[in-house]
Amino acid sequence: MYEGFYGFRERAFRKTPDPRFLFLSEAYEEALEQLLFAVEEMELALLTGEVGAGKTLLTRALVDRVGERHEVGMVLNPRLSPRQFLAAVAAEIGVTSPKFHAVDLHAQVQDRLVELDEQGRGALLIVDEAHLIPERATFEEIRLLTNFQLDDRNLISVLLVGQPELRQRLRHKAYRALTQRIGAQFHLPALGAADVPRYLAHRVRVAGGPEGVFEADAAQRLHEASGGVPRVLNQLATQALIEGMARGRARVGAAEVDAVCENLDFLDPLPRRADVAAFPAARR
Ligand SMILES: Nc1ncnc2c1ncn2[C@@H]1O[C@H](COP(=O)(O)OP(=O)(O)OP(=O)(O)O)[C@@H](O)[C@H]1O
Ligand SMILES: [Mg+2]
Repeated sequence: MYEGFYGFRERAFRKTPDPRFLFLSEAYEEALEQLLFAVEEMELALLTGEVGAGKTLLTRALVDRVGERHEVGMVLNPRLSPRQFLAAVAAEIGVTSPKFHAVDLHAQVQDRLVELDEQGRGALLIVDEAHLIPERATFEEIRLLTNFQLDDRNLISVLLVGQPELRQRLRHKAYRALTQRIGAQFHLPALGAADVPRYLAHRVRVAGGPEGVFEADAAQRLHEASGGVPRVLNQLATQALIEGMARGRARVGAAEVDAVCENLDFLDPLPRRADVAAFPAARR
C-alpha cells in the first residue's frame, strides 16, 4: 500500500483493535483507571461509547493490565438466550464439561468461582456488544452472576460494553435491580481537537513511519471530518496517505485530506460528511 513510499514498517491505521497502537488520551486513561479499579473491587461496570470510539480496544488494554490475578472471560457476541449465555460464561471461565441445563450450569459456574477464589484469584467477565443482548432474561443472568459471593466478597466482576443505546435501555425501570449494582460506569468520548494530532503521531510512530507525515492543518481537517471517532479517523488517514502518495508528496497536507473527504460517498462504508458532523466532538 503506502508503507514503502513513506518508509513505514507496517500499516499505521488498521481496523483491528491492536493494543500495540494504544493511544492514551486523558479520557482513555481515566476510563482505564476507573475500570481497573472496578475490576479489583469485583464490581459490575458499564462502558459505553459511539461506534468506533475504541471500546473493544479499551477492553483489550484492560485485560493486559489485570494480569494473572483474574481469570478473564469474554463474550464477544451476546446475541444469546439466557441458557446459551450461561454456557458461554461457563466455557470462558474454565468450567470443565459444562452441563446442558441452566440450573446445573449455575452450580458449575459457582463452583468454579469458589475454586478460583481459593487460588486467590477472581474472575472478570467482559460482555462486548452488550446492546445486542436480545432478551431481558439474559440481563437477569448477568444480575444473578453478580450475586455470587463468599462472605462479603463478590466472586466475579462483570463489564458490560456497548453502544449508547445500551445505557438508554438500562434506564428502564425493569432493569433497576441490575443497574443498582453498577459500581462504575464510563462513556468514552470521541477524541478532541488536541488529541487528534497526538493520536495520528502516536500510530505513525508505532508503525515506524516518518515523524510529521501529517501536517498540522491535515490533522485539523481529519479531526473535523471524523468527529474524532478513531475508526473513522483511521479510514480517512489511510486514504489521505494514499492520496499523498498518488500526488508524490512526502507529507500529507490539508489538500489531500480535502480530496479524500470530497470523495467520501465513494468510500463505502465511510460516513458522509453530514453524518460525521453530527458527532458531538465535531462541534468542539
Ligand atoms: N485510544 C486508541 N488508541 C489507538 N487506537 C484506537 C484507540 N481508540 C480506538 N482506536 C482504533 O480505532 C478502531 C476502532 O476501535 P474499536 O474497535 O475498539 O471501537 P469500538 O468502540 O469497539 O467500535 P464498535 O462500536 O464498532 O464495536 C480500531 O482500529 C482501534 O485500534
Ligand atoms: Mg467493539
